[in-house]
Amino acid sequence: MKILIIGSGGREHALAWKSSQDSAVTKVYVCPGNAGTALEEKLENISLDLNNFVEIADFCKKEKIALVIIGPEQPLVMGMADFLQANDINAFGPSEAAAQLEGSKTFSKDFFIKYGIPTAGYAAFDSYDAALTHLNEIEYPTVVKADGLAAGKGVIICSSKEEAVNALDSIFKDQTFGEAGSSVVIEDFLEGEEASFIAVVSKDKIIPLATSQDHKAVGEGDVGLNTGGMGAYSPAPIVDEKIHQKIIDEVMTPTMHGLISEGSPYLGFLYAGLMIKDGEIKVLEFNCRFGDPETQPILLRLKSSLVELCLAAINDELESHEIEWTEKHSCGVVIASQGYPESYESNKLVSLPNNSESETKLFHAGTKLSNNEVLTSGGRVFCATALGDNLKEAQAKAYNLVDQVSFEGAFFRKDIGFKGIK
Ligand code: AMP
Ligand code: GLY
Repeated sequence: MKILIIGSGGREHALAWKSSQDSAVTKVYVCPGNAGTALEEKLENISLDLNNFVEIADFCKKEKIALVIIGPEQPLVMGMADFLQANDINAFGPSEAAAQLEGSKTFSKDFFIKYGIPTAGYAAFDSYDAALTHLNEIEYPTVVKADGLAAGKGVIICSSKEEAVNALDSIFKDQTFGEAGSSVVIEDFLEGEEASFIAVVSKDKIIPLATSQDHKAVGEGDVGLNTGGMGAYSPAPIVDEKIHQKIIDEVMTPTMHGLISEGSPYLGFLYAGLMIKDGEIKVLEFNCRFGDPETQPILLRLKSSLVELCLAAINDELESHEIEWTEKHSCGVVIASQGYPESYESNKLVSLPNNSESETKLFHAGTKLSNNEVLTSGGRVFCATALGDNLKEAQAKAYNLVDQVSFEGAFFRKDIGFKGIK
């Protein structure tokens, strides 16, 4: 059986690596992939135009691809899953319409209200002047969000009106996020602890994956600019059994049914970013895909087949499908390029570990292979991931792996997992 993974990040390296573990899988193509997927056994990078769905469908037919997993949000929001499915290809990912849950903050906030899903109070604006007037009427801190896709960077937490005005200037006037900033959501600041709840969903059937927690801010102690995520661990102790059930009942189930009512039943990974406080949950955002870096520690814990899970969802057989996890904990630490999430340099030569400890895995993200050497090519470069009997052990093993990787300007947070350990 041959698989195709779309994307080039750490998430895609993990999806491809996990898919390749099945004995029934003979080949995993990754488009476009990175140096990690280029070097891995059974994996092969291919170069196809991700905007040309016909080219991708032709490749799938020619190679008899049994499953396509679409990793990132961009191709999903552009309708890649719809196109491949309409061509009888087993594509795992939501439709363009369902992916609006991530593709537009105004769409998702309106959806939450319509279906009674708990979320922060908000107002949406497509004009600078109206948004500016609103800033006189609210309390601070507040949160200003660009409407469209901004790689996790379009959310600005503002402690004062002055900061909020700057955020509006940056979004509307400087057009920092381009088209994604043609409208904004201004929402109440929520306190609490965040968790990522990711599930495999097919219409009204759901298989929740292991819980996890990401570290979005660039600096230790969760300070500084938001990034795509600087590290993650699984499980997240904050999601106890009671909270878990509450998330299913108050968030996931109404979302699945809401999408069915809207005529866009969901297929794929559905990710709810949650704020939890005093046993209450609120949805910060939905993502229409697996999280990055959450995928890396979560898939290290998955003992059963990822390919069979995705195929069961596509074939509407989730109800009778079971998956298996290790009891062990996992931790993934992102190694980034100096300057990320703002501008950074690339093409730095990487020195990789000679041999790694058991139950550890160095997932590549922004890397490329050039004349048999590994060079950096992105903001987030690696995710050093490890399993341990407890989070502390997993964390120590992950940092041990981090220490064996070097390139000019490499930096990482030294406290990944701290909330789970405290
Ligand atoms: P989002 O892309 O909407 O999940 O926002 C990215 C990050 O910004 C979240 O993971 C939170 O850390 C933070 N954030 C977003 N919305 C809020 C809010 N209403 N209150 C506090 N923090 C928020
Ligand atoms: N780690 C957060 C995300 O994937 O959006």
